[in-house]
Amino acid sequence: MQDRPRRDTFLPFSRPMIGEEEIAGVVDTLRSGWITTGPRAARFEEELAAFNEVPRCLALLSATTGLELSLSALGIGEGDEVITTAHTFVCTVSNVVLRGAVPVLVDIEPDTMNLDAERIEERITPRTKAILPVHYGGLPCRMERIWEISRRHGLAVVEDAAHTMGARYAGRRIGSDPRSAFSVYSFHPNKNLTTIEGGAIAFHDLRHEAHLKLQRFHGIARGAGTPYPEGSPLYDVPTPGRKSNFTDVQAAVGLAQLPKLDGFAARRRELARLYLSLLSEVPEVELPADGDAEREHCWNLFVLRNRPEATGLSRDELTAALKAENVGTGIHWQGLFSFSFYRDYFERHPEGLPKDGLPHAARTTENLMSLPLFPALTEEDVLDVVSAVRRVVAAGRRRARG
Ligand SMILES: Cc1ncc(COP(=O)(O)O)c(C=O)c1O
Repeated sequence: MQDRPRRDTFLPFSRPMIGEEEIAGVVDTLRSGWITTGPRAARFEEELAAFNEVPRCLALLSATTGLELSLSALGIGEGDEVITTAHTFVCTVSNVVLRGAVPVLVDIEPDTMNLDAERIEERITPRTKAILPVHYGGLPCRMERIWEISRRHGLAVVEDAAHTMGARYAGRRIGSDPRSAFSVYSFHPNKNLTTIEGGAIAFHDLRHEAHLKLQRFHGIARGAGTPYPEGSPLYDVPTPGRKSNFTDVQAAVGLAQLPKLDGFAARRRELARLYLSLLSEVPEVELPADGDAEREHCWNLFVLRNRPEATGLSRDELTAALKAENVGTGIHWQGLFSFSFYRDYFERHPEGLPKDGLPHAARTTENLMSLPLFPALTEEDVLDVVSAVRRVVAAGRRRARG
């Protein structure tokens, strides 16, 4: 490939895809007189469930709340353990801690960066209640193996599907297999589908519905979002609850996004494969794994890993040099042990850590960076990014040679 010169405009690593349909939907909602949880939120939930091939989806303020409510619906609390990946956004683990349970970390597969299903069983104890896999960057975990372990040991599975709304595992949408009790999607602006902020829980056992609905809205036992005059102004509160409902304004954005989601994912795949092909000529960096026939990748993130011994650069030097080339990057994520709370927490809860440590997660978190990837990216943008990576790596190597 012919290297391109430095960009003269900054390219962010992510940008939400907001079109005229989203804007018109929001304006209509604002004009409708009902802007919080109401008829549009209900319609979004129905369309979301149909799209994801699940009996029920409940929309919420965030995926973070979705994870918390899933664990609470399973009755997970003090004295319990939840097996999860060592490489995730902090909220996956924090939700377990907030329930009073202990997150038991498992190292990742070095190629996919997803939790290594082969290391789950050795971490199961009589306290284990659930397995909480995260489909990192849009690549589904090896779910068949995880379900097989969960069945044998009587454990619930909650999928952190923050990155994988719309991806398929074994030909079916993530969340659609009833062997997982709950799957939780995020609609944060960096995700494949956004509702500004927002999330949803997909589930199969409708006995959970009442608990989830009470918990997302003050414990109020009446359809939250039933506009007067149809609803009654009176209600009961059978339990204390949170406030994490989803507004009609968010729903208007989501309803416009949903029909476009498969197209977004297809474009992300095209761009990711262009990156994979062009960057295969830069052996100083490690490329992310693609999906396969079983695990369809929806490429929420394109995560490159620096090989410091080959580039002569630390990850932070590399991303700073890319920024000087007008190429933005993200860090998904800082390791848990970079956070003061978790350094201290795992000192007090060594049962949360494997005896042989978390070498793959540690190396990954030190070296990773997310390159720009969103459906509006052009082929020229990708060429700009790859040219910048090549220049920065070549300069690092020259410096290392002295
Ligand atoms: C793996 C993972 N889980 C959960 C979340 C939380 O999503 P939200 O911001 O919707 O709460 C994120 C957010 O980026 C995430 O990356």
